[in-house]
Amino acid sequence: MNEYIKNMIEKYRLEGHSVPDMSLIKTPKQIEKIKAACKINTAVLDYVEANIKMGMSTQDIDDLVSSFTKESGAICAQLGYQGFPKSVCTSVNEEVCHGIPSRLKKLNDGDIINVDVSTILDGYYADASRMFEIGNVSEERKRLVRVTKECLQLGINAAQAWGNIGDIGAVISQHARKNGYSVVTQLGGHGIGLEFHEEPFVSHVGIKGTGMLLVPGMIFTIEPMINVGVSDVVLDKYNGWTIYTRDGKDSAQVEHQILITEEGPEILTY
Ligand code: MF3
Ligand code: CO
Repeated sequence: MNEYIKNMIEKYRLEGHSVPDMSLIKTPKQIEKIKAACKINTAVLDYVEANIKMGMSTQDIDDLVSSFTKESGAICAQLGYQGFPKSVCTSVNEEVCHGIPSRLKKLNDGDIINVDVSTILDGYYADASRMFEIGNVSEERKRLVRVTKECLQLGINAAQAWGNIGDIGAVISQHARKNGYSVVTQLGGHGIGLEFHEEPFVSHVGIKGTGMLLVPGMIFTIEPMINVGVSDVVLDKYNGWTIYTRDGKDSAQVEHQILITEEGPEILTY
């Protein structure tokens, strides 16, 4: 392991910073493997983007993801993960995340949907999500989707080596609130690569200059969930998975997986 990185981490640790365990700093070899998984994950999302349309069910999206991933020689990370029943999360309108694909749920004119895809290739993990607009979407919904994408990009820009993880949530929450929206706090991004969910937890409401030190070689997701109304969410008590806004107003989410480098954040899921 790079001596310079080790020495820097030790310096920050002695200054009282929260620092990542060395196991969270990926080696060049691991980074190559994770990038290969991300490449397939992106191709899956491109395939969904090319085929998603009004009238289709969210199960049809699951079928697209499942078949494309298999043909690529990869595995859907979500299927069976802690008992999750499907291969992809499809979250429509007031569903914040972890929507479960169903034949009964059709995509209607004016809907906004998050499709969240996670892939395992050769034991390495990738995770990203996109928003799609179905048919004629209202200006209010378009604005929510646009601001959510801006929040993600600002969060990524803030993920600089030798900064802190709180820098990310600080810019995201500032931008969301400036636009009259709230940010979900109970869920966040996460380290990823050797496992689906690793340390650190990436809050989307951090405070600049606080939280874990960002070190080159760290890989994690940023996946802000932005609500039109209150930030509070509720869990579906029947399926045990789907998270909704408490007030039933719309929510949007987009997610990228990034690598911290000395030269800045590198998006692995483009
Ligand atoms: N990409 C989602 C996340 O990181 C996947 C959730 S796990 C699932 O939170 F089982 F719900 F798919
Ligand atoms: Co994720």
